[in-house]
Amino acid sequence: MSTLDKQTPQQTSGKEKKVFIKTFGCQMNVYDSERMSDALAKDGYSETTNVDDADLVLLNTCHIREKAAEKVYSDLGRINKTKEKRLAAGGKDMKVAVAGCVAQAEGKEILRRSPVVDLVIGPQTYHQLPNALERVHQGKRVVETEFTEDDKFEHLPKAEKKQIRSRGVTAFLTVQEGCDKFCTFCVVPYTRGSEVSRPANQLISEAESLVAAGVREITLLGQNVNAWHGEGGDGREWGLGELLHELAKIEGLDRLRYTTSHPRDMDQSLINAHRDIEKLMPYLHLPVQSGSDKILKSMNRRHTRDEYIKLMKRIRDVRPDLALSGDFIVGFPGETEEDFEDTLDLIRQVEYAQAYSFKYSPRPGTPGADFDNHVPEDIKADRLKRLQTLLAEQQLAFSQQCVGKDIDLLLEKKGKREGQLIGRSPWLQSVIVDAKESQIGDIIKVRITRAAPNSLEADII
Ligand code: SAH
Ligand code: SF4
Ligand code: F3S
Repeated sequence: MSTLDKQTPQQTSGKEKKVFIKTFGCQMNVYDSERMSDALAKDGYSETTNVDDADLVLLNTCHIREKAAEKVYSDLGRINKTKEKRLAAGGKDMKVAVAGCVAQAEGKEILRRSPVVDLVIGPQTYHQLPNALERVHQGKRVVETEFTEDDKFEHLPKAEKKQIRSRGVTAFLTVQEGCDKFCTFCVVPYTRGSEVSRPANQLISEAESLVAAGVREITLLGQNVNAWHGEGGDGREWGLGELLHELAKIEGLDRLRYTTSHPRDMDQSLINAHRDIEKLMPYLHLPVQSGSDKILKSMNRRHTRDEYIKLMKRIRDVRPDLALSGDFIVGFPGETEEDFEDTLDLIRQVEYAQAYSFKYSPRPGTPGADFDNHVPEDIKADRLKRLQTLLAEQQLAFSQQCVGKDIDLLLEKKGKREGQLIGRSPWLQSVIVDAKESQIGDIIKVRITRAAPNSLEADII
């Protein structure tokens, strides 16, 4: 029996309102969903994990590949059924909002395709969510996707301590948003707008609040996080390296990470930060997309394969235990077997600890979609399989090298078995440990004993 059957109209007309939030896409969407939840909390909404129970359903969407975007419509279809069933049974009304990158890219087209949607709100306007919902409650269908000059972060309420802690001992913090690079395959410059860095003082104060609430690890986020720049406390212009130095001074903050970087913005001060800042974890996600100069050029990545390989060497020189991670696209228009083999060769030279790889998905409005020589789907699928086989081998080899090492482990959540806890290694691997005496949030010393493809096992030492 669903909760729906148990509800009576009296029970639901009270002040307490429930929002069901589903997040698609990247970590920035996770951060945004949290900010939207904080904004809604001020309006009396608490989060529910049960759609049946929701007064408001909020889908925070991703437009990066076709599959991600289409998934939103199948979800909306299901939500529509839930809503109709509930209304037919005399239950409460349900409002439906689509936020995020599909909202920005498709705007009012979403209202046309999906009559159940009441509100479409883009990533740069979600500070207007409470106001937009008010208009929805007056019976309007609202589209809120204009880019404004407003600093949305200034307008968003701060999260409560309890709320922050309930989200865990690790947290995301968006420091930079948007992109001016216009890779020819990518929708992000259109959905997130142009590159903006948040001011250093705003970020330091948000980081301090996170730590005061019990957060021990912060991952700085940006579509081009290493392009972050701003005026520092000393009046000089800072880059991400300097910001990391400053954040590392926060007492109680034990670990820092950042993602996603662009090879063009990896400056010396950031590279040195990997040598000098103990709290900065030895992990770097630096997408390259392809190992072929011809394809890199037509993707508008603005660097060569050699420049990337040399850069990776320079970073490893200052921090030899660094785990490297990357993103790859196979089957970009014009990619030949030879181009693809150049990518495999680059992977063999760099040796990744972790990676994400995708078949090229033509996106409306991007230059790549109009290029000639699209690669047939079956060839894309075959290349992806070969690429992933190689990357999986490298990932396992990296994990196997970790066996026998003693590491600090930040415990993040409970494991499947009683007494088991799961944490992250400095290299971002999941590590399972029997640690009855420890608690989530502790950093404990462990010895890695076993490597499986997606996790490690360890013993307390
Ligand atoms: N800002 C980051 C990436 C953002 S998108 C960067 O510059 O690297 C995350 C990843 O999705 C990209 O690195 C790319 O590998 C993949 N991606 C983006 N657009 C894509 C498309 N049209 N088809 C397939 N994969 C894509
Ligand atoms: Fe997209 Fe390229 Fe910008 Fe990354 S750098 S967000 S891949 S346009
Ligand atoms: Fe997707 Fe937008 Fe992130 S398109 S990957 S949710 S920036």
